[in-house]
Amino acid sequence: MILIAQISDLHLVSEGKRCYGLVDTNELARRAVDAINRLNRRPDAVVVSGDIIDTAKAADYAVAQDILGELEMPFFPLSGNHDHSTGLKAAFSDHPFSASSVPDRLCYGADVGAIRLVVLDSSVSRAPHGELSEAQLSFLEQELSASNGRPAVVAVHHPPIPTGNRSMDKFGLRRPSELAAVISRHSNVLRILCGHCHRGVLGSFAGTMVAIAPAASHQLELALDGDDTFGFNLEPPAFFLHRWTRAHGMTTQFAMVERYPGPFPFPWEKPSNPPSRE
Ligand SMILES: [Fe+2]
Ligand SMILES: [Fe+2]
Repeated sequence: MILIAQISDLHLVSEGKRCYGLVDTNELARRAVDAINRLNRRPDAVVVSGDIIDTAKAADYAVAQDILGELEMPFFPLSGNHDHSTGLKAAFSDHPFSASSVPDRLCYGADVGAIRLVVLDSSVSRAPHGELSEAQLSFLEQELSASNGRPAVVAVHHPPIPTGNRSMDKFGLRRPSELAAVISRHSNVLRILCGHCHRGVLGSFAGTMVAIAPAASHQLELALDGDDTFGFNLEPPAFFLHRWTRAHGMTTQFAMVERYPGPFPFPWEKPSNPPSRE
């Protein structure tokens, strides 16, 4: 069994500040890291699906080094539209992923047990939308061909599918058909892990499933077709757990960062332990 946790959109800021003057994103990220560290079944790896910092200022990666450095398992970051790809690479230069396969991009492959993880960098300097260069699509093709049918997970910050939130869909991945052409040639891609939308969303794409993780920070107000509300809210942060077995493939669980009262025994069960959590 392989378990991959996915946290997304940390939007870290300089210590002592709040994101947008309101959200204590550094504290929320610390809580997300703690929630992953104390899971009963420790994940084999954590994918951090972009927007690691908020300001695109390389200096803010000092905060990311501090917070992500607390993870008790390997982690794999992506560059999002709020990131600074070369700053992110430099901040984690002692990690193997810093040897990016495409210059100036955070684009790499890594093994998580039997699974091949392929990380792409869809960030575009000073723009909110995403793009993938020909070089990155070639890199993906090479990686998936070399994986020789081995299970693979692709990670890219900008989703290649519309979610129904028109304000955000404008800023998704441009030319998704180019990514679809590569993915559809390989039946071993179990998931495409994305962030950016600050909501948990699942969708079909090129014969596989896109899993857009909720944010570890603020969420985006739910707004579907016809509703152009565009703003963030303080809904509870959450993350994904992607569980893979050779027999059954991949399932994805949605998990909350905060703890809530429970577990309580069902009335028909004999309570062996009284509820211990508030
Ligand atoms: Fe974000
Ligand atoms: Fe983003």
